[in-house]
Amino acid sequence: MASAAAPRRIIIDTDPGIDDAMAIFFALASPELDVVALTTVFGNARTSICTDNALRLLEIAERTDIPVAEGAHGPLAMSFRGPADFVHGANGQGDAPLAPPTTSVVNDTAAELIIERAMAAPGEITLVPLGPLTNIARALQAEPRLAANLAGIVLMGGNAFCGGNASPAAEANIIGDPEAADIVFGAECPIVMAGLDVTERIVMTGAQLDLIGSVDDVRARHLRAILPYYRRFALESSGLDGIHVHDSTTISYLLAPQHFASVRYPIRVDTGDGVGRGKTWPRTRPAQHGPDLWAGRPLVTILTDADVDAVVRLELGRLGVEL
Ligand code: BDR
Ligand code: CA
Repeated sequence: MASAAAPRRIIIDTDPGIDDAMAIFFALASPELDVVALTTVFGNARTSICTDNALRLLEIAERTDIPVAEGAHGPLAMSFRGPADFVHGANGQGDAPLAPPTTSVVNDTAAELIIERAMAAPGEITLVPLGPLTNIARALQAEPRLAANLAGIVLMGGNAFCGGNASPAAEANIIGDPEAADIVFGAECPIVMAGLDVTERIVMTGAQLDLIGSVDDVRARHLRAILPYYRRFALESSGLDGIHVHDSTTISYLLAPQHFASVRYPIRVDTGDGVGRGKTWPRTRPAQHGPDLWAGRPLVTILTDADVDAVVRLELGRLGVEL
């Protein structure tokens, strides 16, 4: 087991993605965390584009020592719903002009790398999924002992007590692969869900984002190039002068859980074909009639609120903004 002072070892499973890029840079800038690997998945863009972006982000951050493993090209039980290019640009990075990556992925698939690293270090690895949960579900299915060997899973996704953002019912990462999500929320390890319940409460304002633009650093320069696209989407879709830092919320929680409020319930995901597909349902009270479809499911820590000022300051500080 890692000692209390040792950095927490994380594998970030990601579909970069503008807010994914922020979260990855935030994690890399945090000495409390040891980013063991990035694994990629479809979501904000096709998997191959997300993989190129993961490689690029590590090149920009001068952390090409961190391996990148490519993951699933589509969900477990349906076709890829298509990219969120209207949020993240066709290249997933706000349509900023980017050179091709100069580094390459490792031979392992995402699921293979997750299994290999977790089984080699029982109780040490925390998975941080920031996209659809396909790779995590595949790894759990391929290695039944995986969950027991993880330190835990801290994921961005879902909506327990509020509406969705990809449909009225569902959040984007979960609707991206509801079958996979239902498998992951059944895993017997500590799971923290940073879903829209909390991420939509955390706004980094336009004025605060402008401060990133004044930081003289390669990572901040990249964020300055990609953030305008994301800001424009937020303004046009919800009139927000600023952004929700969805994916970074996982990193903030890992660094400072004291800034968050939470509740604990078992979760099932709607995998039907109706209007609720992809909705994450907490069981907040026992079933009165019929079978308990949540029976045997572990309690999930669902983040419900945050000290917004503290969380935003934490992230901005790590990104080099002097407040
Ligand atoms: C999630 O969906 C993606 O667009 C973001 O990167 C984030 O992971 C928010 O619903
Ligand atoms: Ca994401």
